[in-house]
Amino acid sequence: MTGDRYGSEIARVTVKAFRHLFPDLARSLPDLYIFHTDLLYERLETPKNPEMGNYALPLFDLAKITRKNPAEINSELTVVQNNVVRKDENLAHLSFEAVGGFNNARVSTAKLAESVLKDIAKKADDYGSSDEGSGKNIVIDFSSPNIAKPFGVGHLRSTAIGASLYRVFEKLGYKPIGINHLGDWGTQFGKLIVAYRLWGSEMMNKDPITGLYDLYVKFHKEEENDPSLSDKAREAFKALEDGQQEEAELWKEFRDLSLQSFMQIYDLLNVRFDYYHGESFYNDKMDITMDRLKKAGLIMESEGAQVVDLEQYDLPPCLLAKADGATLYATRDIAGILYRWQEFRFHKALYVVGSAQRDHFKQVFKVIELLEEAEGTPPEERIRSRLHHVEFGWIKFQDKAMSTRMGNIIILEDVLAKATRLAREMIVAKNPNLSDIDGTAEMIGVGAVIFADLSTRKHIDVNFDWDAVLTFEGETGPYLQYTHARLCSLVRHYAREIPPVSDFSCFDRQEENRVLDLLYRFPQIILEAAETYEPYVISSYLLNLGAAFNKVYQRKDDAGRIDKIISDDINLTAARMALVNAVRVVIREGLRLMGIEAPEEM
Ligand code: ARG
Repeated sequence: MTGDRYGSEIARVTVKAFRHLFPDLARSLPDLYIFHTDLLYERLETPKNPEMGNYALPLFDLAKITRKNPAEINSELTVVQNNVVRKDENLAHLSFEAVGGFNNARVSTAKLAESVLKDIAKKADDYGSSDEGSGKNIVIDFSSPNIAKPFGVGHLRSTAIGASLYRVFEKLGYKPIGINHLGDWGTQFGKLIVAYRLWGSEMMNKDPITGLYDLYVKFHKEEENDPSLSDKAREAFKALEDGQQEEAELWKEFRDLSLQSFMQIYDLLNVRFDYYHGESFYNDKMDITMDRLKKAGLIMESEGAQVVDLEQYDLPPCLLAKADGATLYATRDIAGILYRWQEFRFHKALYVVGSAQRDHFKQVFKVIELLEEAEGTPPEERIRSRLHHVEFGWIKFQDKAMSTRMGNIIILEDVLAKATRLAREMIVAKNPNLSDIDGTAEMIGVGAVIFADLSTRKHIDVNFDWDAVLTFEGETGPYLQYTHARLCSLVRHYAREIPPVSDFSCFDRQEENRVLDLLYRFPQIILEAAETYEPYVISSYLLNLGAAFNKVYQRKDDAGRIDKIISDDINLTAARMALVNAVRVVIREGLRLMGIEAPEEM
């Protein structure tokens, strides 16, 4: 229903008018299709003859019900509709007209131009913002890499999607709370401690993450020949869990080293978190969580382990504690949900995690649901319906050379560095006199990688191909950045404050209509991205806007010459510059919502 903003506006105005005209009917037949906005929207027709307006609503059904003449209803109806429109400046582009039994609606381009361009000039970057989320917390669990391992491209999608949703919800007035649920606990740290004690000096001259990862790999290799290592690792982890000082210090060092290296990536990607509550954060909350689940009668023993049986829901049992009492990934997520609810009273909690963990989240959410049922939680306090697993597909690299440094892990840092290097080559070839080549190359390179990720629908795998990702022509980040830079350059050339437009009727061409129409839809697009948890909605919108604007830019006049934006006609130029500026603002803001910077020159 969000697809057509005018259609839904017309439906809304019409429903309002119906309620006004037929209050009894509206009350006695509330389900009647015409009183329901969505259904009314579906009834709107597009007249074949554009003279008849942009939309038409046949009134014959209503005439039958009310036993009135359709034309009579229509003339009353249009009066009320036009009154509604007159009172709302955001609807100034709409007008209604009675033509027999057809209630016709028209979208005026000049009025649309007026309302959109004025709105964007006034609000600038705030265009599309709203306060619909005011007072509501949205917890977003995203990125969440595992420490003591390199940050692989596998965690790029969660990072990019999560960070974008964070900005989108913030723009809509929500208070997003970004949590990095680091994988910083588990038996692997026992192994790492043993390996570090045995061979730690070997990692001295490597960068710490490579060093730790090599230790981990070496441990697994040596463990095959020397099973006593496994026991040592178990002991070390036990010591860590019991809070033994030496082990705790080593673990903390591993964690700090990892965080330092992750921070560099987050800086490059412009990503921030409100909390780094990793899995270890829940260590002191395990007992109460287990007690609560036990009290609710949900836990049973299975081969020594503690589980919640979920067979009747077609799910594997949810494993909460091993025979030795050690708690697990799911236990920490359950404790996390309970903690986050208590702490943040979230409107929603999103888990931006790959689809490989679908069952995990189904299990965990089911356990929460069962817990609420068992505890008899009042409906308004129930969390289950607020929890969403925002899942996504894999990212696949065509570039085999990328995966050599660390076995088969593709390191995100390497990808970003290569992207920046390629972007730099492109700049040097195109615009060698650019003032900040390195800074711009980074914005383009990093932006290209993020865009490649966010311009694929979440559930589809990203096929990462360097040539397709880093080009100024095509559906890429650099293409949008380049379009934006060209708009900035027009504004620079104009070299004046853009004056208020005096005559909006000059936007009379189809190319401009399309751009205005898209600009008008931007606020709706942001809402849709939030509703569907899908930054792709924004990336595809921006590509459409870029393409539509490039048509305006390349438009020829009747004599076949490029119809320049800046011409001798002062009023026309001012009007076109208002359009240029509006597109510039929206592209930059759209890119920002995706976490991509927009250089003014490139
Ligand atoms: N560390 C996990 C992984 O890399 C992702 C954690 C996602 N968040 C969560 N609350 N489980 O697979």
